[in-house]
Amino acid sequence: MMPRRSPSFPASLWLTAALAVSTNATPVLFGSTLGQIVDSSVKGLESTIVSLVFPGHQTTNRTASRCKVYPDDPAWPSEEAWTKLNELTDNRLLVKPQPQASVCYEGPLYDATKCAELTGNWSRSYIHFPDPIEMMSPVAQGMTCLPPTIFNTHNCTRGGFPMYVVNATTPKHVQAGVNFARDTGVRLVVKNTGHDFLGKSGGADSLSIWTHHFKDINYIDNFVDTKTGYSGPAFRCGVGVQAFEIYKAAHEKGRTVVGGEGETVGIFGGYIQGAGHSPLSSLYGTGADQVLSMDVVTANGDFVTANSTCNSDLFWAMRGGGGSTFGVATSITVKAHPEMETSAARFSFTSEKVGNETFWSGIRAYVDDFITNADAGTYAYFTLIPNAATGIFTFNMSPFFAPGKTLEQTQGLLQPWLTRLSDLGIKVDPNITHFDSVYEAWQSSFPLEVVSKINATTGSRLFPRANFETEAKRDELFQNIRQSSENNRVQVHFNIKAVDPDNADNAVNPAWRQNILFAQQAVRWNALGTPAEILKARKTFQETDMQRWRDISPGAGGYLAEADRLEPNFGETFWGSNYPRLLELKAKWDPNDVFFATTSVGSERWKVESVDGLPNENGKLCRVSR
Ligand SMILES: Cc1cc2nc3c(=O)[nH]c(=O)nc-3n(C[C@H](O)[C@H](O)[C@H](O)COP(=O)(O)OP(=O)(O)OC[C@H]3O[C@@H](n4cnc5c(N)ncnc54)[C@H](O)[C@@H]3O)c2cc1C
Ligand SMILES: *[C@@H]1O[C@H](CO)[C@@H](O)[C@H](O)[C@H]1NC(C)=O
Ligand SMILES: *[C@@H]1O[C@H](CO)[C@@H](O)[C@H](O)[C@H]1NC(C)=O
Ligand SMILES: *[C@@H]1O[C@H](CO)[C@@H](O)[C@H](O)[C@H]1NC(C)=O
Ligand SMILES: *[C@@H]1O[C@H](CO)[C@@H](O)[C@H](O)[C@H]1NC(C)=O
Ligand SMILES: *[C@@H]1O[C@H](CO)[C@@H](O)[C@H](O)[C@H]1NC(C)=O
Ligand SMILES: *[C@@H]1O[C@H](CO)[C@@H](O)[C@H](O)[C@H]1NC(C)=O
Ligand SMILES: *[C@@H]1O[C@H](CO)[C@@H](O)[C@H](O)[C@H]1NC(C)=O
Ligand SMILES: *[C@@H]1O[C@H](CO)[C@@H](O)[C@H](O)[C@H]1NC(C)=O
Repeated sequence: MMPRRSPSFPASLWLTAALAVSTNATPVLFGSTLGQIVDSSVKGLESTIVSLVFPGHQTTNRTASRCKVYPDDPAWPSEEAWTKLNELTDNRLLVKPQPQASVCYEGPLYDATKCAELTGNWSRSYIHFPDPIEMMSPVAQGMTCLPPTIFNTHNCTRGGFPMYVVNATTPKHVQAGVNFARDTGVRLVVKNTGHDFLGKSGGADSLSIWTHHFKDINYIDNFVDTKTGYSGPAFRCGVGVQAFEIYKAAHEKGRTVVGGEGETVGIFGGYIQGAGHSPLSSLYGTGADQVLSMDVVTANGDFVTANSTCNSDLFWAMRGGGGSTFGVATSITVKAHPEMETSAARFSFTSEKVGNETFWSGIRAYVDDFITNADAGTYAYFTLIPNAATGIFTFNMSPFFAPGKTLEQTQGLLQPWLTRLSDLGIKVDPNITHFDSVYEAWQSSFPLEVVSKINATTGSRLFPRANFETEAKRDELFQNIRQSSENNRVQVHFNIKAVDPDNADNAVNPAWRQNILFAQQAVRWNALGTPAEILKARKTFQETDMQRWRDISPGAGGYLAEADRLEPNFGETFWGSNYPRLLELKAKWDPNDVFFATTSVGSERWKVESVDGLPNENGKLCRVSR
């Protein structure tokens, strides 16, 4: 192999970088993170790490280079450098992990049996989250390697997948990865489960820190925060812990926690850092509102605690400011709530028998109850699915979820609408079931959702209370929902509110505090279309259906974790009045943009120059010229 220009350097200096620990807030380690870091002999060297780690690189001014460093650049790290990174991460560096669908394409990994299994399971998240690189949005990956019967990519190439992955299990591994990326200029990404709608866990030829194996869960009987006055039970979790794991652990302690409905979503990664809505949000607010403390590796390689008294600005930013922006969290402590009885209902109806006008009158009637139901503490997750071929619309309640409510209370809340449906001649047969716990209700009420769609993108809007307060406003909102269905948009809606009863001061989009309907609609396109055709469909969706939704909710926002990469003015949409402070904190905690994710705070400065011109991760990350 050609020797590269990168220098050789003593291993001891590398260790210095990996072991750097902040002096003011060394986290108390636990579980698998125990005893990995502290070495008092290296304290105080942080400011000189950059020049120590790569002596030959100290003259390279990264601020001046247009793009991150890529394999065709002379500055790309040498084999020796990557080998060193592997040593520093206890041999946990994965080199060019292959896309899963490689087994379907000609080459050394071809395996027809495995390909058939993969194809059969492709839309299930269980096949994707345990993989070091796979993300659940192939559209954002760049569509370069899919099971051919789902979409034939002809060749299987890496596209927007990372090239190297640190399979991290301790903060030290994360520090080594962050230091390496910062000092070499290689693009850094963070992957937890890969659920993000925008594909923010990927990046072509990048170095990825994979947080999936931070799996510890510790129960704390009484967590006391002397500053905020909070005192109560809590869970301290490694950031790889997923919904199905923390819900089970909490239930076993007679507790429940605020998390997403999807069973494999990573609760302590993108979900909680980006706000996070939950079947319990109408009672307790967002996921980010529950956070009591975070342990974080920062862009300069420090491992710090962020809580109400230490690094409190970082703590503010990382509760709602979005993942992969200010640092990499390794563990997070959240409030635990008492387990409680819960009722849930599922039902559906279509326009087939009753016709369009009656179907839509039934939907319009429901809109009248949104404020009452959210204020009552319930959560409704429903879909509106058009079928262009048959002209039939389908409504699916899946489910109406009433934490803390008896069967009778839940029936009482649904009855006004069910009566109106019956008056309209719409037959529904709601299965309203009472459960002893949130856990059992959650387990039996939520479907495993379809992931890895090849020709769809979702846009979202947080419709505030103001959209429901008068009959005229409800009519207007309803007309715009109907219009989207008639334009063949698949819609997913959450009738919830997300007001934090404890009023935590954090970076969560203020639009969540007004929310009554979190609405999503998806544009679909011909997957075989040219990039120009696909881009046109996606832009038209933003200019028409999404713009209508924005026009009727001025000053409201959208949700950064379930959104479209083409959302215009994303800073204002995702963070509202918090955006200016978030930009300042980005400049403070990551002045050199070590961290980047599309549509993240400060990401306006960069753009992935994708090979096909579509909004995806398959290209170099470069500065936007001014
Ligand atoms: C089937 C499904 C169901 C969903 N249900 C819900 C729901 O009920 N409520 C809801 O609010 N959202 C829901 N979501 C959206 C979900 O919140 C986002 O996809 C979220 O980004 C997932 O976070 P993750 O860490 O699991 O995913 P990833 O895609 O791995 O990561 C998301 C982002 O966070 C960053 N990140 C991850 N871990 C860390 C870390 N430790 N430190 C710093 N940055 C990190 C990544 O770099 C990336 O930018 C759902 C999504 C899907 C696909
Ligand atoms: C690095 O480059 C930027 C942009 O060209 C410049 O503003 C800055 O002063 C340079 N820094 C150093 C240390 O040379
Ligand atoms: C999904 O994968 C499992 C093995 O992990 C396999 O047994 C099963 O047949 C697959 N499902 C389909 C529909 O192919
Ligand atoms: C597949 O790879 C071959 C050889 O590298 C190349 O000639 C061809 O254009 C590629 N096809 C596609 C669809 O990318
Ligand atoms: C990543 O690390 C975990 C924990 O040590 C291990 O179980 C797993 O096999 C590793 N994954 C890969 C792909 O190396
Ligand atoms: C914040 O973390 C630091 C360092 O672990 C700790 O000393 C302090 O007590 C914590 N503050 C609160 C309010 O818990
Ligand atoms: C209902 O509306 C759809 C879409 O606008 C249309 O295709 C369909 O023909 C209509 N059905 C009836 C029965 O009018
Ligand atoms: C109603 O829902 C419960 C819980 O999901 C389920 O156990 C039961 O079988 C359902 N009843 C009917 C009649 O479908
Ligand atoms: C979009 O994909 C779905 C399946 O993923 C497929 O049924 C549909 O035909 C596709 N639509 C277009 C227009 O390609």
